[in-house]
Amino acid sequence: MATHCRSSSTALSLLRAVGLVVTLLSLVASSSAQFAIPERYDGFVYNVSTEQGRGPVMWEVFVDPLCIDCKNAWPVVKQVVEKYGSALLLIVHPFPAPFHHNAFFASRGLHVAQMTNSSLVYPLLELIFSNQESFLNPSTNHETPAHVVSRLISLADNLGFPTNSFEVAFNDAVTDQATRISFKYGCSRGVVGTPTYLVNGVAVAGADDSWSVEDWGKLFDPMMKSPGFGMLYSSLAPGS
Ligand SMILES: *[C@@H]1O[C@H](CO)[C@@H](O)[C@H](O)[C@H]1NC(C)=O
Ligand SMILES: *[C@@H]1O[C@H](CO)[C@@H](O)[C@H](O)[C@H]1NC(C)=O
Repeated sequence: MATHCRSSSTALSLLRAVGLVVTLLSLVASSSAQFAIPERYDGFVYNVSTEQGRGPVMWEVFVDPLCIDCKNAWPVVKQVVEKYGSALLLIVHPFPAPFHHNAFFASRGLHVAQMTNSSLVYPLLELIFSNQESFLNPSTNHETPAHVVSRLISLADNLGFPTNSFEVAFNDAVTDQATRISFKYGCSRGVVGTPTYLVNGVAVAGADDSWSVEDWGKLFDPMMKSPGFGMLYSSLAPGS
């Protein structure tokens, strides 16, 4: 009995010691995993308006502007968000895959648009999609990064940014930082491919660019009966 108690108390203090080490290790791990906490929620709210985010659904889509599947998925995403109107808040997070060599530039371009004139973010995304092939690896293997950036800047200039403002913002460290945060945010949510969809913060398993408006309807229609948490999400839409 005494032996049992002793051995068990030895086991207990061993366990406590192991527990302490584990706790210390996880503290070290979590402090090294801490990246800059952004000043505002990452991503681009679609069709920013004061009506946005008062419904029950927050739909987050991780998009690599140079991903062909994202380009294919985009028309359906737009139709879905237009169908549900202000009941659905769409936030696109740029997620530049490292193996798409120019994806960071393209994603940075979206942050530049957000900071220069936020109503041009989605027109720019669509313009990049329609010129996507010219920015893919095979098309740019023999092109310098500086030249790729200059093509991106002249593409954006077609959208009517004030002269040189896009280029100036592109070279500002703030837009570099914002793009890094977007990438790290995606990593922190376990994103390993695009498009990845979260609905009210939960990853939709199996959802991909083959999903139709009807497929999304099966998920969203029943949710529309919920009263929602209006004020929670509406705080994400600038201007509200
Ligand atoms: C944008 O939001 C406004 C206000 O909610 C709405 O009237 C309009 O139809 C929306 N536009 C698109 C493209 O979804
Ligand atoms: C932003 O872009 C939109 C669309 O081109 C334009 O109507 C608006 O005047 C621009 N806003 C500013 C502040 O430049």
